[in-house]
Amino acid sequence: MSIPLSIKWDGKRLIILDQQKLPHEVVYIELEALKDVYEAIITLKVRGAPAIGITAAYGLAREAQSYNTNSMIDFLEILKKDATYLGESRPTAVNLVWALNRLLSVASHIDNVQIAKQVLIEEARRIHKEDEESCRNIGEFSLSLLKDKTRVMTICNAGSIATAKYGTALAPFHLGKERGKEFEVFACETRPIFQGGRLTVWELQQSGVDVTLITDSMAAHTIVAKGIEAIIVGADRIAKNGDTANKIGTLNLAILASVYGIPFYVAAPSSTFDLSINTGAEIPIEERKAEEIININDKAIAPSNTKVFNPAFDVTPAKYITAIITEKGIIYPDYIENISAELLNSIEKGEGL
Ligand code: MRU
Repeated sequence: MSIPLSIKWDGKRLIILDQQKLPHEVVYIELEALKDVYEAIITLKVRGAPAIGITAAYGLAREAQSYNTNSMIDFLEILKKDATYLGESRPTAVNLVWALNRLLSVASHIDNVQIAKQVLIEEARRIHKEDEESCRNIGEFSLSLLKDKTRVMTICNAGSIATAKYGTALAPFHLGKERGKEFEVFACETRPIFQGGRLTVWELQQSGVDVTLITDSMAAHTIVAKGIEAIIVGADRIAKNGDTANKIGTLNLAILASVYGIPFYVAAPSSTFDLSINTGAEIPIEERKAEEIININDKAIAPSNTKVFNPAFDVTPAKYITAIITEKGIIYPDYIENISAELLNSIEKGEGL
C-alpha cells in the first residue's frame, strides 16, 4: 500500500501520471515541449489546483533552458510570454498563475541568463517540495478537527495526485491510515469527469483507506442513511472573504451540510488564496466542452445537438464554511477579519482562530 504521486522531476525531465487513463491504466508520460504541458493541463492529464501549478512551474523552467539569448531583457520577455501562454490553460485554479508568477519574480532579480536558468529550476523544485510539506501540515490540522469523526464525505479529487503528495481534503485519510485511524470515506462520483469515481476511489484504495462510491445525487440520502459526520473538500481559489471555488457540486454539499448540521471543511494551501479579490463573484468559472456532458467514454448519452451548460466549478459562499484548513493553521469565521496576507504568514500552528 502506498500513496500515489502524480509529478516527478528527475533533474531534467518532467514526468506526470496521465490521470485521463485512470483507473484502467497507470501510465506516466514525459512532457517535453511547452505545448505538451499546456495540453496536459487543459485535457486534465494533470489536474487539481496545486498539481497544475507545480507542473506549469517545471514546464516553464524547463522551457527556459532552451532560450537562445544572453540578454536578460530578451530572456525575461520570452519567459513572460511563455508564462502567459501556460497561465491561460485553465482559469479558475489560482495556484497556476501563483506558481508562474513566482518564477517570473525570481528571474526578474537575476542579471545573468545562465544563472537565471538554474534559479528557475530551483524555484520549481522549491514549489514542489513546499507543497508536499503544506499538504502534510493540512493533513495534521485536518486530523485534529476530525478526531472524533470517522464517516466523512468528499467530492472530486483533492488528493495526493492533485498535489505534490498527500493532497488537501484527502490528506487526513492518508495520514490517518499511517497512524491506525480508520476513516470511512464516501466519495461523490463528480460528474461529468468522474474525478471522484476514477481518481479518489483509486487513490484511496492504493493507500488502503476504506472508500465507498456514490453518485452525486445520492449525497443527501447518504448523509442521513450513513450518518455522515463531516464533509471535507479542496479548493481552486479562495477570495478574501472566504468564498471558495471548487469542483462543481461542492456548493450542493455545503448547503446539505448546513441543512443537516454537520461541519463543512475546506482544505487548501495558502497558494490557493487570492487576496486580490474581495468575494467569490470575482472568481472566473471555467466552462468546458459540451461533449463532456453529452458523452460518457465516447458514447453519447444524449442527442449530439443537445444544448449544454458545463461549468467546471462553483463558488461556495463563506457562510456555509465551518473552517478553512491551511498548512499554517485553521481559519474560522469571521473570514473577512481572519483572512489577510499577514494572517496567512503568521497563524500559529494548531491554534486556530
Ligand atoms: O477540474 P479539476 O479536476 O482540476 O478540479 C479539481 C478540484 O476542484 C480540486 O478539488 C481542487 O483543485 C483542489 S486539489 C487539491
